[in-house]
Amino acid sequence: MLELKKISKTFNPGTVNEKRALHELSLSVPDGDFITIIGANGAGKSTLFGAISGSFLTDGGEILLDGQDVTLLPEYRRSKIIGRLFQDPMRGSAPGMTIEENLALAAGRRGWLGHISRQDRECFRAQLRELDMGLEDRLRQPVGLLSGGQRQALTLLMATIA
Ligand SMILES: Nc1ncnc2c1ncn2[C@@H]1O[C@H](COP(=O)(O)OP(=O)(O)OP(=O)(O)O)[C@@H](O)[C@H]1O
Ligand SMILES: [Mg+2]
Repeated sequence: MLELKKISKTFNPGTVNEKRALHELSLSVPDGDFITIIGANGAGKSTLFGAISGSFLTDGGEILLDGQDVTLLPEYRRSKIIGRLFQDPMRGSAPGMTIEENLALAAGRRGWLGHISRQDRECFRAQLRELDMGLEDRLRQPVGLLSGGQRQALTLLMATIA
């Protein structure tokens, strides 16, 4: 269960660029629910995802995941328990690393030092095949060679693999 309790975020407070993006937003998402957030451009959707994943700290409110208070947990620690897809396809993966290296990192292989086991490689191949983009035959190519849509699909897989 993900619980947001009255979270708020104002960018650039006290300046001419001040923007109140989230105002006391509360939301409960039970396990297994698939929900869609709909809103106009600039409504605050990406800001909401940024708040949940810890891209910045909120000005107020609480964020709980399975009862654990993650409100003040830094992004790199939240990334262990929260997978995310960025709106910008260039942001969710490392372009200089190969497809299989990106997947190994996302899968959180403990102590991963550049060696990918045959078993892991087969597992990555099988999951990539489901995307039906031929990426299973490009495991050792740098992610920077992929198209925006291919890269976004890979990031979706990375966000859900663990
Ligand atoms: N880092 C930032 N600094 C200043 N203002 C920001 C920042 N990020 C977002 N904003 C502002 O906050 C508001 C919400 O932006 P956000 O990106 O959350 O919108 P969105 O709902 O994701 O829109 P879209 O559908 O266009 O992706 C916008 O007015 C935006 O200009
Ligand atoms: Mg957005």
